[in-house]
Amino acid sequence: MGCCNIIMVEELLSLLVLTATAFLTHTALEIDSQYETCKPPDCGNGLTMSYPFWIPQQQESYCRHPNFNITCSNNNEPILRMSNDDYIIRNIFYKNQSLLVTNTGALSDICPTHLHNLTLVDTLFKFSPNHANLLFFNNCTLTPTDYFTYQIPCASNISSNSGYPFATFVHEGGLQYLNISSKQCESFVGAPVEVADGVTYEDMIKMDYPEILKKGFLLEWNASHCSECEGSGGRCGFQKNNIIYFCYDGPHPKNCNHKISSVSNASHNHNFLNKLYLNFPKLLKASSKVPQFG
Ligand SMILES: *[C@@H]1O[C@H](CO)[C@@H](O)[C@H](O)[C@H]1NC(C)=O
Ligand SMILES: *[C@@H]1O[C@H](CO)[C@@H](O)[C@H](O)[C@H]1NC(C)=O
Ligand SMILES: *[C@@H]1O[C@H](CO)[C@@H](O)[C@H](O)[C@H]1NC(C)=O
Ligand SMILES: *[C@@H]1O[C@H](CO)[C@@H](O)[C@H](O)[C@H]1NC(C)=O
Ligand SMILES: *[C@@H]1O[C@H](CO)[C@@H](O)[C@H](O)[C@H]1NC(C)=O
Ligand SMILES: *[C@@H]1O[C@H](CO)[C@@H](O)[C@H](O)[C@H]1NC(C)=O
Ligand SMILES: *[C@@H]1O[C@H](CO)[C@@H](O)[C@H](O)[C@H]1NC(C)=O
Ligand SMILES: *[C@@H]1O[C@H](CO)[C@@H](O)[C@H](O)[C@H]1NC(C)=O
Repeated sequence: MGCCNIIMVEELLSLLVLTATAFLTHTALEIDSQYETCKPPDCGNGLTMSYPFWIPQQQESYCRHPNFNITCSNNNEPILRMSNDDYIIRNIFYKNQSLLVTNTGALSDICPTHLHNLTLVDTLFKFSPNHANLLFFNNCTLTPTDYFTYQIPCASNISSNSGYPFATFVHEGGLQYLNISSKQCESFVGAPVEVADGVTYEDMIKMDYPEILKKGFLLEWNASHCSECEGSGGRCGFQKNNIIYFCYDGPHPKNCNHKISSVSNASHNHNFLNKLYLNFPKLLKASSKVPQFG
């Protein structure tokens, strides 16, 4: 009898080990649905949108940061909407959290003067330190002569008495030095432009202003970093004002290595198997509909 008992125990043990192995293998292969849903989308032009950017038409809202939603244009370009204007995202530099954008009006309009002011108040964006403003003045009674201006003949409209439109460069805080009274011009809007390192004001005014607008400008964004999580194969999301880390096997506290390394930890495995065995009666019940007692 003693011999048979041992064999039975051994058989039971190997059955348990087999089941546990099957269970572990199964969990490892099952890819988390949130991780799957949050795969980086793109608009079709090859520029991948990683955290914090997301495309509401393609993704669940938990996939990315709510303030970084973008849409896709008919030309498959990613569009960021700010201050009632559309900006094409031309490039994204995740490393230094900045992106290059161009106002769509600057690309399509042969006479790009009707731009709105871009205000970044209440956004998580700011201009790069290298930006300058190209100001467009409309309906001026005269053109300043004491500093450089771009004439914009295409915007002049003699028949509607639109005065002299012109554009000029102003660096941050330089507006007060412009000698333009409100009586001289009717309105102005500022278009941000990028002044590359080493480029001087003199270099800028030699360029064609529509070309400068087309080059676009850099914006820097402020959101929690995702690089550590992405570096470990994960994807970031956002829930209840907090960044969350989705990995192929479910959400992790920090990055995907955090739990993957501890899975091979003996004490973790021990806990896991404990839980598994505790769940055995439930699993049996579910699978074979064992009648319930009491
Ligand atoms: C997308 O962002 C804009 C402003 O940037 C906002 O008005 C709009 O509600 C957002 N849409 C979604 C689906 O989050
Ligand atoms: C971020 O890095 C890219 C590529 O190196 C660079 O072109 C861009 O100017 C940088 N952005 C800022 C804000 O410095
Ligand atoms: C010029 O004025 C006419 C008449 O007011 C208007 O129809 C036309 O669109 C204007 N052109 C421009 C470039 O503003
Ligand atoms: C330009 O200003 C004049 C007078 O100040 C005004 O009559 C005219 O309607 C304005 N034109 C435009 C296009 O705003
Ligand atoms: C500003 O412009 C007015 C007339 O357009 C001129 O009389 C005045 O000298 C200018 N001021 C400066 C500081 O350039
Ligand atoms: C654009 O911004 C400037 C400075 O903030 C302001 O003086 C100007 O009126 C604004 N233009 C429009 C059309 O809102
Ligand atoms: C970035 O945003 C956080 C809150 O979301 C804020 O506390 C922090 O001051 C911001 N940093 C910068 C540099 O604006
Ligand atoms: C294994 O897990 C225990 C408790 O969770 C922890 O104290 C220990 O540092 C872990 N060992 C390794 C190698 O991760």
